[in-house]
Amino acid sequence: MAHLQALFVALFIFAAVFDKGLVHANFPKSIYITWGAQHAAFTGIGDDLQLVLDQTSGSAVQSKRAFLFGSVEMLIKLIPGNSAGTVTAYYLSSMGSQHDEIDFEFLGNSSGQPYIVHTNIYTQGKGNREQQFYLWFDPTADFHNYTIHWNPTEIVWYVDSLPIRVFRNYESQGIPYPNEQGMRVYSSLWNADNWATRGGLVKIDWKSAPFIASFRRFRARACKWNGPVSIMQCASNIPTNWWTSPVYSQLTFAQMGQMNWVRRNYMIYDYCKDTKRFNGQMPPECFKQQL
Ligand SMILES: *[C@@H]1O[C@H](CO)[C@@H](O)[C@H](O)[C@H]1NC(C)=O
Ligand SMILES: *[C@@H]1O[C@H](CO)[C@@H](O)[C@H](O)[C@H]1NC(C)=O
Repeated sequence: MAHLQALFVALFIFAAVFDKGLVHANFPKSIYITWGAQHAAFTGIGDDLQLVLDQTSGSAVQSKRAFLFGSVEMLIKLIPGNSAGTVTAYYLSSMGSQHDEIDFEFLGNSSGQPYIVHTNIYTQGKGNREQQFYLWFDPTADFHNYTIHWNPTEIVWYVDSLPIRVFRNYESQGIPYPNEQGMRVYSSLWNADNWATRGGLVKIDWKSAPFIASFRRFRARACKWNGPVSIMQCASNIPTNWWTSPVYSQLTFAQMGQMNWVRRNYMIYDYCKDTKRFNGQMPPECFKQQL
């Protein structure tokens, strides 16, 4: 009897630990290193990832699975100190020349100078939809939550749960929307000192290397892509497809207020305002409401 009890206790502990492992040991399970194997490391109990850049290499990872709709969440602590010339990227992308892509990129800066959060979206191979922001906190001091949510009606970029950008589905009006290609999650750290900091004016100072960006608690609460059958499956309005619930089809009034606050105070570039670049022929989505 005592034996049996001991066995149950052991099983219980094992189950609890194992269960915890499934939830937390997320990086090695769900992501693999694609570049700079000596420069990327899973740490802790598998819930942390570090990407390193030095003069020999940068590094990159990608998710094993592709997804279509849902939320992809990552806590990121950016390179402290002098990070000028570096880019830390975190994005979703499908493959091929007609690919879809939803980007967060973090452009480093000299010590004490602000990082730029660079966002973009590609639909069927076409990008050129950059919006850039400063942050309202020091992104190198601690981990912050960068989340991409996308569903059949809209895509929202979140920073610490504040929406900073929306791209709505106006497909019925001829504007392509990313809803037919599974996307993997990618993160990378590389040398982009030909453009990143003050447009390429500030070069990487290798004396500050190695540069380390830290990632934590990657979660893809998203529909798994199993090929073209997923186009219908992931978009169908059923309870398990929580992202299709009407509450995610539009920001709440409170969220609209938050987004306006961010955009009013921290937005530094908007392609929709760059009439010179587009020679007056503004992209059609610039005339639509993005909420
Ligand atoms: C990150 O932000 C998303 C979007 O607001 C939220 O759903 C999620 O719970 C947050 N995760 C953490 C760990 O705070
Ligand atoms: C770096 O700092 C300069 C000076 O404050 C600023 O103009 C620039 O936008 C910052 N960010 C980047 C990535 O260049």
